[in-house]
Amino acid sequence: MMRTHLCGELRSSDIGQEVVLTGWVNTRREHSQHLAFVDIRDYSGVTQVVIDDGTDVRSEYVIKVTGTVEARLEGTENAEIGTGEIEIKNAKVEILNSAESPVFPLDERADEVDETVRLRHRYLDLRRPRMQKNMRLRSKVNSAIRNAMVQQDFVEVETPMLMPSTPEGAREFLVPSRQRPGNFYALPQSPQLYKQLLMVGGLDRYFQIARCLRDEDLRADRQYEFMQLDLEMSFVEVDDVLSAAEVSVLDAAEAVTGVRPDEVPRITWHEAMERFGSDKPDLRFGMELVELTEVFAATEFKAFSSAGSIKGINGKGLAGDYGRNKLDGLTDEAKRIGAKGLVWMKVSDDGVIESPVAKFLGEAELEALGTALDAEAGDLLLLVADEWDTTCEVLGELRNVLGRPPVSQGPYKYVWVVDFPLFVGKDANGTPRPGHHPFCHPHPEDIDKLDSDPMSVRAWAYDLVLNGWELGSGSIRIHDPELQRKVFANLGIDDEEANKRFGFFLNPFKYGAPPHGGFAYGIDRLTAILAGEESIREVIAFPKPQSGIDPLTSSPNEADEAHLAELGLALLPPAE
Ligand code: AMO
Ligand code: AMP
Repeated sequence: MMRTHLCGELRSSDIGQEVVLTGWVNTRREHSQHLAFVDIRDYSGVTQVVIDDGTDVRSEYVIKVTGTVEARLEGTENAEIGTGEIEIKNAKVEILNSAESPVFPLDERADEVDETVRLRHRYLDLRRPRMQKNMRLRSKVNSAIRNAMVQQDFVEVETPMLMPSTPEGAREFLVPSRQRPGNFYALPQSPQLYKQLLMVGGLDRYFQIARCLRDEDLRADRQYEFMQLDLEMSFVEVDDVLSAAEVSVLDAAEAVTGVRPDEVPRITWHEAMERFGSDKPDLRFGMELVELTEVFAATEFKAFSSAGSIKGINGKGLAGDYGRNKLDGLTDEAKRIGAKGLVWMKVSDDGVIESPVAKFLGEAELEALGTALDAEAGDLLLLVADEWDTTCEVLGELRNVLGRPPVSQGPYKYVWVVDFPLFVGKDANGTPRPGHHPFCHPHPEDIDKLDSDPMSVRAWAYDLVLNGWELGSGSIRIHDPELQRKVFANLGIDDEEANKRFGFFLNPFKYGAPPHGGFAYGIDRLTAILAGEESIREVIAFPKPQSGIDPLTSSPNEADEAHLAELGLALLPPAE
């Protein structure tokens, strides 16, 4: 090695030693013409170097320093850094490389710099302690996950990146084929189909730290390409999958935080919707939805009298924070999500419920409402009346607006949400869509309702949620072709279409598919939360900003004519 120590390593116990450090010039403070204090930095920290031979070094020069460790003068110690008691004296500085001045300061001030600028110069951004910490934390997460899976007898298998289009729901990236012009591979939105075929192939327990690609609008928790811990298991029930996945998540959390989270509680999807109005409930705060349908059973208030479900939430002590404008904002938000309106009420200092609609409500109703919602002076009450799912969903969103802390703020609250509906919504023809994907096993207790009442059928499907973010999803899969055919029929897919679209996947199931199930969670999301970051971009070395255009490489780029021709492609004129 060129160096004897790292820049963050030396302590007063090293005083007197001759050492060699290598790194970047972090800061330079001029003392006099010939005397300068230079902080040399590598990933581990900084050390102060006293340069008294006039060597001219500037910010981000790459240097090698040979010198003696000495105690700092009394009164000049820096208790905030590990090396704060010492400095390097009699320093001989060798310039290994000069550097242009950095485009932005490489300390916490860069947090305020425009993200595009940070990403255009990501190689500089990565030198910062925050990014160094995040990249190293991510590496620990990955190795803890891999260890956890290997220890549980999972086999790591790599599945193809060039594959056929699949029916998982996200928009795929297509790759044109040179040898079969006019034909395309798709990039995997997940290894779903291959991992199920691995089960048919007898691998028994598969895992992969898998790159997945989806052409979606980018957000704080979404990238075009992201990493999943993907797993699949044969001869298992829901419990087996949840516990194998849980071990890896908790091991990763423990590896980076030093604390093992408690066993993860489970709630059903129905309970999550009832209590939190969300299938990814944030359990760090209460403000649960309260059932009010009974309270208003005989109401004369028109907006409430015909509704299937009336619920409310109590924003404790929030009345004062919500003036007219903010309340109008909440109402607009409620309507955007699908509510017909929003009733808000404030509890006055003497305990009276005040609201523009109070005059339409009877005294007994107001009193019962106050009791149900535990209304006290200073509380803000929000009520919605609608179909059950709309009522839940709207209040769930408003609950988040009123009470949700930033995702990265502790404590960590994991929860399994189980028994998702097999089908959701309906398209224009009245055909339901799969809740997760078309290969989810219906809950065995509900299979006989596939014909009579399909929308009420639960799936053997589950999500893992952390602080209100969906970390992962999975299910027990259908392994019986007859049951698969039935579910396809519900989804409006007949045999012919099923064969055409996923014959390559379904045919193998005729050759003895074991019962199996699996799960996948987003490693970027888990890492971001464990790192205390609000966006997964902060834990990805080279992420795309929201525009999808990479400021560092400026990709996507135009292809040359010759390359396009070779692929049998011609470009249409840009759409108007
Ligand atoms: P699903 O589509 O729910 O399930 O994806 C699983 C997890 O992957 C993460 N994720 C993303 N992370 C970053 N950017 C994205 N664009 C993105 N999309 C998804 C999320 C999500 O919970 N094959 C199934 C799993 C299975 O059934 O076994 C699947 O991919 O954390
Ligand atoms: P309206 O009778 O439509 O003038 O509404 C009276 C008040 O009730 C307004 O504040 C509406 O926002 C609210 N409101 C109307 N419909 C609903 C509903 N389904 N749920 C909750 N509030 C509603």
